[in-house]
Amino acid sequence: MCGIVGYIGASQAAPILLDGLGKLEYRGYDSAGIAVFDGTKLAVKKATGRLKVLSELTHDGATMPGLSGIGHTRWATHGAPSDTNAHPHYNQDETIAVVHNGIIENYQKVKKKLTNQGYQFVSETDTEVLAHLLDYYYKGDPLEAIRKVMHRVEGSYALGILFKEHPEQIFAVRKDSPLIVGKGKDGNLIASDVPAVLKYTRDVYFIQNEEIAVLSAKGIEFYNLDSEAIAKESTTIEWDLNAAEKGGYEHFMLKEMYEQPKTVRDTLTPRLKENQIVIEELGMTDEEIRGIRRIHIIACGSAYHTGVTAKYVFEGMARIPVEVDLASEFRYRNPILEADDLVIIISQSGETADSLAALREAKERGVQTLGIVNVVGSSIAREADRVMYTWAGPEIAVATTKAYSAQLIAQYLLAIKFAQVRGQLTEREVERLLNDLKRLPDQIEMLLANKERIQRFANRYIAAKDVFFIGRGVDYAISLEGSLKLKEISYIHSEAYAAGELKHGTISLIEEGTLVAAVATQEDLYKKSISNIVEVRTRGAFVLAVTNEGNTQIEKTADYVIYIPQTNRYFTNSLAIIPLQLFSYYVSVGKGCDVDKPRNLAKSVTVE
Ligand code: G6P
Repeated sequence: MCGIVGYIGASQAAPILLDGLGKLEYRGYDSAGIAVFDGTKLAVKKATGRLKVLSELTHDGATMPGLSGIGHTRWATHGAPSDTNAHPHYNQDETIAVVHNGIIENYQKVKKKLTNQGYQFVSETDTEVLAHLLDYYYKGDPLEAIRKVMHRVEGSYALGILFKEHPEQIFAVRKDSPLIVGKGKDGNLIASDVPAVLKYTRDVYFIQNEEIAVLSAKGIEFYNLDSEAIAKESTTIEWDLNAAEKGGYEHFMLKEMYEQPKTVRDTLTPRLKENQIVIEELGMTDEEIRGIRRIHIIACGSAYHTGVTAKYVFEGMARIPVEVDLASEFRYRNPILEADDLVIIISQSGETADSLAALREAKERGVQTLGIVNVVGSSIAREADRVMYTWAGPEIAVATTKAYSAQLIAQYLLAIKFAQVRGQLTEREVERLLNDLKRLPDQIEMLLANKERIQRFANRYIAAKDVFFIGRGVDYAISLEGSLKLKEISYIHSEAYAAGELKHGTISLIEEGTLVAAVATQEDLYKKSISNIVEVRTRGAFVLAVTNEGNTQIEKTADYVIYIPQTNRYFTNSLAIIPLQLFSYYVSVGKGCDVDKPRNLAKSVTVE
């Protein structure tokens, strides 16, 4: 959903901006642009396509000299990808340049007003109104103009702004879109995300909603909406740049899949103390846990799929009723929430617009909220009453893998904890479950080691038109994620169905040779799953089964079988998803798709 950067200091700005944009390309990659103050004017260069087009155009920034500048990588919302619609956007006399991440919701109204005032628009973007509106309000004091713009516009934004008359400063502001400030040795930076500044500094400030940052070569000042100076503490980023680099892997997705054993360990281990689950950050007394009447899990995309799994786990283990909602649906359906409900928002980025809005909706209704979030200091992490971090580190590939795995672990831990406190599990049962959890990292490693076999299988399906994923119970949740992984990175149409539901329509789509991935990890449902496999096979499907070690009976029915190691029935998702991730990955590679940056997608969806 667009990435923004800015730099001011003693070094040439353009190469630093391009480098930073490279780290943010996962946020959008249909066009890019930079603006640099070159000593006399604000020079702007923009290019449709990947960042490398802009880098070539500017000779890696060498043709754009200057010590301050802003940059942008775009994921189009208003106006198709084009040089004109790419950021930065100017005011008419090119004295103010703006980069924007977010959506200005009342831009039509503002545009009309500005047009009536004689302002001429060149792009189809909502962002351009910001440049002209800043011009409209600017009377020599940039802060005053920014403040007035903030009062006037509705929607979400993280902005980087350059004023030609104030070349010794860059300005940044945010509302509901992420923005950080980095304090470097020879200059200061702004960025949508930490990886963009890590090469230059580990000291970052998280800008809160409606705060303004003013950066110069020597210092950084922060102001609130009333232009009062505010003091802020910087945070030291502990992880290093390697965590956000490919480190020898062909793609970030492959690297991140291989990081899953570590991710699972990192999310799990700090919360296990002497064979007990201790989730300090939860801050709930046993009495409060016993008082939970209902859990609402709310999320988008893959995070939502982990919630679908967690429903089975919470209900099965802790006997707490769970509702799982897509955040975009939850917020508009006037949900029924009661005082003793617990709302859990799951988000890798912590910035997904719909998830954030759902969190706010829940808080407004006075319900306790818990964020399960990966990005430290993100909006959902800050705004939720409590936050449980998934320690997955930075995830760059648009298609999530390791953050997904960590989200599952966090929810298993909560479910066991709640079940234990509510008297649904004995000490012995908890011990067994924890032993199963502790084995997961090694088991995931084993599955990853089997990648060649899956690669060979995937190569047979690069020309597939439709693929179906079926399963029951937790296996249905796994199917949802397996299907999403395949379609998002390989552009093959795929659907996930609760296996028992197939015969109510979808089975008519099965033809000779159609690939059906049948997930069958739930022992009590084997027989039913076998029946569903037979149903599709008699109609010509080729069946890939993912099942537990030892369930060799399935070979009589399925065409190709992948076995996962034995674990508790509630944890099979953590294992069965690994071959499905690998399958999608190798289909995508085989088709020559851009694995890490699939078309039309962005990692952090900060628009509704
Ligand atoms: C995007 C990503 C998905 C992710 C979803 C929710 O669509 O491509 O991988 O699951 O957003 O993102 P979140 O950051 O809230 O987990």
